[in-house]
Amino acid sequence: MILVTGGAGFIGANFVADWLANHAEGIVNLDKLTYAGNLENLATLFDDPRHVFVRGDIGDRPLVDRLLDEHRPRAIVHFAAESHVDRSIHGPAEFIQTNIVGTFHLLEAARGFYERQAATAQRAFRFLHVSTDEVYGSLADDEAAFNEISPYRPNSPYAASKAASDHLVRAYFHTYGLPVLTTHCSNNHGPYQFPEKLIPLLIVNALAGKSLPIYGDGLQIRDWLYVGDHCRGLRRVLAAGRPGETYHIGGGNQRSNLEVVHTVCALLDELHPRPDGRSYAKQIVHVADRPGHDRRYAVDAGKIADELAWRPTENFASGLRKTVCWYLDHRQWLAGAQSGDYRQWLDINYRQRQP
Ligand code: NAD
Ligand code: TYD
Repeated sequence: MILVTGGAGFIGANFVADWLANHAEGIVNLDKLTYAGNLENLATLFDDPRHVFVRGDIGDRPLVDRLLDEHRPRAIVHFAAESHVDRSIHGPAEFIQTNIVGTFHLLEAARGFYERQAATAQRAFRFLHVSTDEVYGSLADDEAAFNEISPYRPNSPYAASKAASDHLVRAYFHTYGLPVLTTHCSNNHGPYQFPEKLIPLLIVNALAGKSLPIYGDGLQIRDWLYVGDHCRGLRRVLAAGRPGETYHIGGGNQRSNLEVVHTVCALLDELHPRPDGRSYAKQIVHVADRPGHDRRYAVDAGKIADELAWRPTENFASGLRKTVCWYLDHRQWLAGAQSGDYRQWLDINYRQRQP
């Protein structure tokens, strides 16, 4: 079995389902259930005896030690994090606590467990750290995409906290020989993404007749990847990645935020037209920009393609269509995600941005 952290969040929940559909091995899923963790994301798995959910903090050393000794996982896949840039601007403390201190405690527990294993179990053991392209900072329009040796230049408290965790993971390989793998993925979209992030937020607001807030000029570029392709890439890295190496996972789909919002609106116009027959694009509003907003991210995924034969199966149009269809078909999930905490966040983040 493997131990997954943060498996009730967006990518983690997709990964758990994808894993159980493709492997006989079970999963212990450790998640604190912060505002971003949602047991509804795992609802289809609760009858599967291979899935053991444990509510808890990656920083709770006695708990993690107990889980490791009890379940003896052959790998840890570490998703748990505070993950939203705008929240990191309003309140960075949680990001330092979970992403840096929490990862440190998890690494310490993993190191202790690894050192207690026999040589054969040690050879098979992996610690897969799921990181982001945001640690590299911002690219100019004419710069080549980030590769695995690009320098770290994080610009937000979120990116800085992920960068710090990457450094700790690297150090545990070089200092203690813990067999780590690190992946840096570009922006994901797909089922179960908390609607504070751009694409589900646009869908929620569009359907509610609210404005579609675009920060600044909307010409910032992200490299979008369908979450299912990310999960498949993580399985490849876990299966065949070389310990101590880092791998980029990206969609090769660079799009400006304006292109994203217009594509989402066009899909909604087709699949769920507004009652008045007008386009959802009428709801687009430019609002105050994010402080320190990175202009462009893009990752070169050549290494994982060459070494591990991974390539995305969805392009931007096909992936985004799947995503929009999923939210249209899961209106109850969307309603459930918009709790009191969510409404409070909208107030904090958007009230002072009004044009
Ligand atoms: P998310 O915010 O949707 O989910 C995070 C999960 O971690 C939640 O279920 C939450 O309850 C859990 N968690 C938070 N703190 C915890 C703690 N202290 N102990 C245990 N569980 C805790 O995030 P996501 O978008 O699914 O991202 C998952 C990982 O992938 C993160 O590490 C993120 O940095 C990375 N990543 C995300 C993207 C993206 O586009 N979303 C892209 C690249 C990398
Ligand atoms: P987001 O989904 O928060 O991901 P990240 O900041 O990690 O890339 O944002 C994606 C892009 O969309 C980013 O350039 C910020 C922008 N954005 C908006 O324009 N409006 C919004 O309401 C949000 C949440 C994001």
